[in-house]
Order: sequence, then structure tokens, then C-alpha cells
Amino acid sequence: MASSGMGAIATTLLSLCRAGDRIVAGRELYGDTRDLLVRDLPALGIRIDFVATADLAEWEAALAAGPAAVAYSESLSNPQLRVLDIPRVAELAHERGARLVVDNTFASAFTVQPLGLGADVVVHSATKFLNGHSDVVAGAMVADAASVREVQRRVVTFGTCLDPHAAFLVARALHTYELRLGRQAAAAAGIARWLEDSPEVVQVSYPGLASHPDAAVAERTWRPGRRGAMVAFVVRGGNERAARFLRALNIVREATSLGGVETLISAPNNSSHFSYTPQELNLAGIKPGLVRLSVGIEDAAESPRRRLSLWAPILPASPNNGDTPAPRSTAVPGPSASPDPDLTFLGASGVFARWFDVAVKGGTLRPLGWARVDPALSCGRVLSPAELAATADRERRRHAHGPHACYRYSPPPFWGRVEAALQLGWRL
Ligand SMILES: Cc1ncc(COP(=O)(O)O)c(C=O)c1O
Repeated sequence: MASSGMGAIATTLLSLCRAGDRIVAGRELYGDTRDLLVRDLPALGIRIDFVATADLAEWEAALAAGPAAVAYSESLSNPQLRVLDIPRVAELAHERGARLVVDNTFASAFTVQPLGLGADVVVHSATKFLNGHSDVVAGAMVADAASVREVQRRVVTFGTCLDPHAAFLVARALHTYELRLGRQAAAAAGIARWLEDSPEVVQVSYPGLASHPDAAVAERTWRPGRRGAMVAFVVRGGNERAARFLRALNIVREATSLGGVETLISAPNNSSHFSYTPQELNLAGIKPGLVRLSVGIEDAAESPRRRLSLWAPILPASPNNGDTPAPRSTAVPGPSASPDPDLTFLGASGVFARWFDVAVKGGTLRPLGWARVDPALSCGRVLSPAELAATADRERRRHAHGPHACYRYSPPPFWGRVEAALQLGWRL
């Protein structure tokens, strides 16, 4: 286990690669993994060549181009939901002496088990489905005993070890893993089918849909009938309309994290992939208006059309169901000057807004009120009274699900304040 998914990924790659080595990697990657590959590893003399995750010809050509220590990919890419052909890529990697490392966070072990398909190492953000309660940051690395020992030594020396209490929470959450994932995946399949019929949705990506470009790969390589709990779809009208849609939702929460018991939704362009330039978003297949849905366990007994008519206040009812979405307020607070622009701090989860009982500035405690977090920077600002009046109800509901695991996105000044806050006994 490691301190986070990124802790597991970084420690694994730094254990398996040396200066002068080459990694061939799927291009469609979680934003911070990509940052590690394009910014940090090259600085240590490790070369990275990218290929399209689902394109075997590209894998073959890149691996044939020269020696490689590692082939790296997500089994189900975040957020495009492209599927890696694990057996074929493992074969290609092994022919060239490379080890295949697979990030199985998005698909989950419930859905696909890469080691049985030829992968050498599996990494997970245990922050997501493995823990499943959005209250822990953790990572996992799974491999043969020798590889685990190789990584484990560096987990200690690099200090990416998991806090014991977090380890306990993840271990406890695993008791309900199959139950949670079964329920989440069943609901996700229904929601994906429903979305396909919505005129407001341009495209739906779910590996269980016949329309998915990698449906046959999932059918051949994944566990029978299991297609995961992540759905991606493109809202007609692009990023701005998608953002309005997200912010108008009343039940589903907008947050960068995923895999928890609560349904979470995000726009990758302003959250998990905000470090991508527009060109990089385009190359990675993140279309304007793309929205990522992590389906939770709540209301699993309800029909998708009812769930979505509640969830989707600005999407008209699907033409085939006759439901009329319940009228909802779509008021979104506009920008306003922060009463104290210097005061930045973390909210909960991705786009994150939360109630702060008190906050610390200059060592004193004072009440703050509501905070909204800037989706691009993940740092907070204090809401004006007008914004507060407009959003309090919704934010209170959002906060009710507890803190999420995205604190590392917050800017450095936050850390000093957290430390001060903790010293002063501030309940974060
Ligand atoms: C596919 C994938 N891998 C790795 C990570 C990083 O995990 P963590 O947040 O636990 O560092 C994430 C986080 O969203 C992810 O989606």
C-alpha cells in the first residue's frame, strides 16, 4: 500500500526504471500521471513515448522502436473510457523485454483483473473504489512477491507509506467491495443506456454499450458481464453548458474524486485534467462538454429514468420515457470579489465547497462562512452574502457527504494554514 494512488504510481515507476530507460505509455491518462511522465521522469533521464491506449498498431510500433523498461497504461482510461487490450499489449511488451504496468483504478478489480491477463504490475488509487467512501487517500501496488519487495523498500525510503489508520479504513471498506461495485455497475449500465437516448447528450461512453469502440475488447478480456461504474458523456453545447449542467444538479455532487458510495460528477477539463492545454485535451480525446460520472450506490433500486430526471435538471426527459424533470433552480453564483483575496484554502472534493466553522489567519480564529473552491485552481475563496444566499442550500447538501481526497491540488499557502489550524485545534 502507498500514501496515495500517485504515491503508488510514482514509487512503482521509480523502482522499475533507471536513467536511460524508456517507458511506452498510453496517451489517455489521469492528469497527474501524465505530469509525472512528461515533467518529472524525463528530468531524471527517463524517456517517455506515448501511444493511443486502444491502438495495438501504435503499441507494436513504439515497443519495436527500441528497448523499453516499462509499458504503462490505464486499463480503462480516465476520462475517455478507452479500454486497454491487456493480453495483447502484455504480449507485445514481453516480446521486447518490457514489464506491463496497468493502472486499474477506473475499471476496478471487480471488473477486470490485469495480472491474470498478463500484466506484471497493477497500481490503484485506493482513494477511489477500493476504499469507496471518499474519506481516505491511499494507493496500492499489486505484483509478484519480488516486484512488491522492490517497490516496498522504496515506499519506505521515499516516505510514500500509508498512514496506519487509512490502511485500516481501506481494509474495512474491502468487506463491502463486491456489494458496492455490483450495485454501482448495474446502475451505471442503466444510466449509460438512458443517456444514449437523450437529445441533449452528443455521445455516451460506457464499455457495456454496443456503441463503445472497445466493447469487443471488454467482452473478451473483462470479467463476464462486468463493465464498471464509470460513465462518460458529452453534453451538447460544450464546456460552458456542461459546467452549467453540473452546477445545477441537486442530488449528484460535482467533485473530482470518484469511486465512492455517492454519485460524483465532474468536467475533466476543469478538474482532473486542468493541466492539459486545449491541444492536449483534443489529442487525448477529451471533447468539449465531456462529463465524467462515477455512479454511487444510492437509490440503486430506482429506475434510471427517475434517477436522471432528478439528476438532470437542464436535460430534457429522454424521448422514450415520458418523465418530466422536476423543476430545479439553475441559479449559479457569478464571480464576486473575495472579501479577502489572500485567503485561500481547500474545500472538500474537486470543485469542493464546504462549510468552514472557523479559519485561521495570522494565528487567530475567526468565523468564515461558506467557501467556494475555484475549479481550476482548487483553492477556495469566501462567498459574498449574495452568493451565500444563492448557494447555501445546495452547498450544505454537497458538504453533507464529507471531505474528499483532493487536497494535494491546493496551492502551497494552504499547507501553512492547515498546520496552524491543526495546532489550534481547528476542526477541518
Ligand atoms: C486513474 C487514476 N489513477 C491515479 C489517480 C491518483 O490517485 P490519488 O488521488 O489517490 O493519488 C487517479 C486520481 O483521480 C486516477 O483517476
